[in-house]
Amino acid sequence: MIQGKKIVLGVSGGIAAYKAVELLRLLVREKAEVFVVMSANAGKFITPLTFESLSGNPVYQEVFGEQSSASMPHIRAAENADLLVVAPATAGSIGKMANGLADDALSNLYLAFRGPVLIAPAMNDGMYLNPAVQENISRMKERGVEFIDPEEGELACGTVGQGRLAEPSRILRAVQTRIAGKEDLTGLKILVTAGPTQEPLDPVRYITNPSSGKMGYAVARQASLRGAEVTLISGPTHLKPPAGVKTFRCKQAGEMLALVKEHFPDCDVLVMVAAVGDFQPDTVQKEKIKKKGETLALKLIPTPDILLEASKTKARQMVIGFAAESQNVVQSAQEKLKRKNLDLIVANDISAPGIGFQSDSNQVTLIDKEGTINSLPRLSKQEIADVLLDRIKANEENKL
Ligand SMILES: Cc1cc2nc3c(=O)[nH]c(=O)nc-3n(C[C@H](O)[C@H](O)[C@H](O)COP(=O)(O)O)c2cc1C
Repeated sequence: MIQGKKIVLGVSGGIAAYKAVELLRLLVREKAEVFVVMSANAGKFITPLTFESLSGNPVYQEVFGEQSSASMPHIRAAENADLLVVAPATAGSIGKMANGLADDALSNLYLAFRGPVLIAPAMNDGMYLNPAVQENISRMKERGVEFIDPEEGELACGTVGQGRLAEPSRILRAVQTRIAGKEDLTGLKILVTAGPTQEPLDPVRYITNPSSGKMGYAVARQASLRGAEVTLISGPTHLKPPAGVKTFRCKQAGEMLALVKEHFPDCDVLVMVAAVGDFQPDTVQKEKIKKKGETLALKLIPTPDILLEASKTKARQMVIGFAAESQNVVQSAQEKLKRKNLDLIVANDISAPGIGFQSDSNQVTLIDKEGTINSLPRLSKQEIADVLLDRIKANEENKL
């Protein structure tokens, strides 16, 4: 329910600015009180009059205009609103927000704003994939800002790719989830594992897998944003720990097992997202193995089974596993669910192109111990994390 909630809609200067009108209409229809703030260039695409008429509130557009006074009641109201959603967010405005620059109404308000922030980028696919833009997005995510990923499809510039503003109905749903679920996991202790493991062969070589850690970090970040007390045990990744999450780093499966054993007894839920390697070399060479032009045979032994070990000592805890499968996805996941005494398993088909490892989105199936199978559409990892956390919340409510 967003009825009566104060929401700031930030609009920046992209071709999708007209879709902000549709989003505003949806927010107003849900009876939210909306204040629109425009970037320096948004007015080149759409007039403030449209937003003013539909929201019933003055639009904040000029830092040095007549309405610039810090005591302007509508600017104060915007700063103290329940949520800020920027849609569309241009590459330029994202760059300013990520770097703390404040030279227009939107970037000033963003810095002054203390509540939750949602950003819906929209731009040409080349701009979106540019490392500078991606770095800015990662930096903001690490600070707790939520992103509603742009969709793939035909773009205004004539190319096809990822960059189209998420549908206004999807943005509305994200706003509703964020406001409704603000603190809905308060009191819950969630232990999350993420990333790959590395098993050394010698001082300079190791066996690993392409897991980026993005899914596990998304679960940790969203759980923390929703009020849970989160502990993250992470294999080697390039990601920064989400704000407010107690994070422990490790490399080998054995180290991850030790950390899980230490923290599991105190948690309510274990979400085992880490892609733990199944094998490790039976011996680790002290010196670098020399290249002699001969075939090198490796003897591999199984790594410890962290999920199984945790499940053995499970008392009140809910235990959730992930299964990356390349064939018979649902059947293999069901077997793993039973064998490891899990409450829920999240299965994904790693043979499908463009999703899963490294990617920001995935297509997964949730299977619970009662046998219910729920196949989700392709979603961002953040959205998948929220669906998973909704299941955790429902499970906790059933215990009452
Ligand atoms: C016709 C046109 C369409 C544009 N569409 C986009 C867009 O969709 N996304 C984007 O990031 N920039 C877009 N730009 C570039 C931005 O308008 C430009 O970077 C501007 O400085 C952004 O300003 P703002 O962030 O203050 O609104 C477009 C420019 C033009 C001329």
